[in-house]
Amino acid sequence: MSVAKKIRSSIEKASWIRKMFEEGAMRKERYGPGNVFDFSLGNPNLEPPEKVKTVLKELVSSDARGMHGYMPNAGFVETRRAVAGYLSSHHNLTFDHEDVVMTAGAGGGMNVVLKALLNAGDEVVVPAPYFMEYATYIDNYNGNTVEVPTNQDFSLDHNAIEKSLGPRTKAIIINNPNNPTGKVYKEAELRQLGELLTYYGSKKGEPIYLISDEPYSKIIFNGMTCPSIFGVYPHTFLVTSFSKDLSLPGERIGYVAVHPSIEEKNMVRAALVLCNRILGFVNAPALMQRMIPFLLEDSVDAMLYQRKRDILCRGLEEGGYTFTMPEGTFYVFPKTPIPDDVEFVGSLREENILTVPGSGFGCPGHFRIAFCTDDKTIQNSLPGFARVMKKYT
Ligand SMILES: Cc1ncc(COP(=O)(O)O)c(C=O)c1O
Repeated sequence: MSVAKKIRSSIEKASWIRKMFEEGAMRKERYGPGNVFDFSLGNPNLEPPEKVKTVLKELVSSDARGMHGYMPNAGFVETRRAVAGYLSSHHNLTFDHEDVVMTAGAGGGMNVVLKALLNAGDEVVVPAPYFMEYATYIDNYNGNTVEVPTNQDFSLDHNAIEKSLGPRTKAIIINNPNNPTGKVYKEAELRQLGELLTYYGSKKGEPIYLISDEPYSKIIFNGMTCPSIFGVYPHTFLVTSFSKDLSLPGERIGYVAVHPSIEEKNMVRAALVLCNRILGFVNAPALMQRMIPFLLEDSVDAMLYQRKRDILCRGLEEGGYTFTMPEGTFYVFPKTPIPDDVEFVGSLREENILTVPGSGFGCPGHFRIAFCTDDKTIQNSLPGFARVMKKYT
């Protein structure tokens, strides 16, 4: 047996999202792409803003020496300075470039933070439903995932969180706005979370860290904004990327920022830089880092996702589905009319509608629709959604 047991078993379990994505490719070949409604993967269908192309063209034709060379593992100082400036102007705090480490996307950033923090057996609390990769990332460093439920409307359940905090709790991961629910946590609920962590951290005698994963923070609807996580708790890591807001998931660019007042600041920052290196990322891609200072204030047009949400949600409502209206991201997480979400997703598949069961997010009885597809796919899928619901009601 050559492959490690843990990896073998993970391959056998295979993520639902990936399974559905592969099923989609197979069905598109068999039935034609126009006849398959693939809502499985959070791969943005909007093209990056034009400015991405303009800036990249200039960068790739530059004759400056060292454009593609190694740099400090934390990233180019100019890029980190630009990110620190952006954070300072949006979070009402002063960030230094040393508070920022450029990473290979948010996924890379999460791994860097967890590697830097976790000792074997440490617990990381994760409100469910959640992006399932968190559990694998935590397991990468022999930590234990402690799932806690959220409220009916997917807001944070502070009682459940409080019950989960104990001497082995090292951190809590929140994802704002949330994949798969589209929920945007409000400032008051984050503040209450900060108070809980402060209380239990002081009981424990060391900080319980808050890791806020925010790659969707600019994809928010109806004029809402994502509250500053740094405003509510000092022992905080912000992890984010440009995968969703600039539609650049394949380019692997993001960053981790630490709260300027985090305890043992120098050690924490040095740990992140070391982990970026020893996880084999070494540094975030150079060309993307060079581009980022020009695009920090840019984003795809979130209104286009809002329109998709509205077409889909109106249709789902008419088809008899119940769900919490997404406030951001490009996901909606309706209830299934039967407890077995895997069976329900299987019935949708019979209509060539590909979605992901809630079990894949630690929340059975629901399913996720990723509406980062073209409007026509959404529109044309609605009769199929309605037919399947009718079968069960
Ligand atoms: C909640 C969440 N966090 C992190 C990621 C990973 O993002 P990235 O492509 O920047 O690594 C995703 C991707 O879908 C996500 O949904």
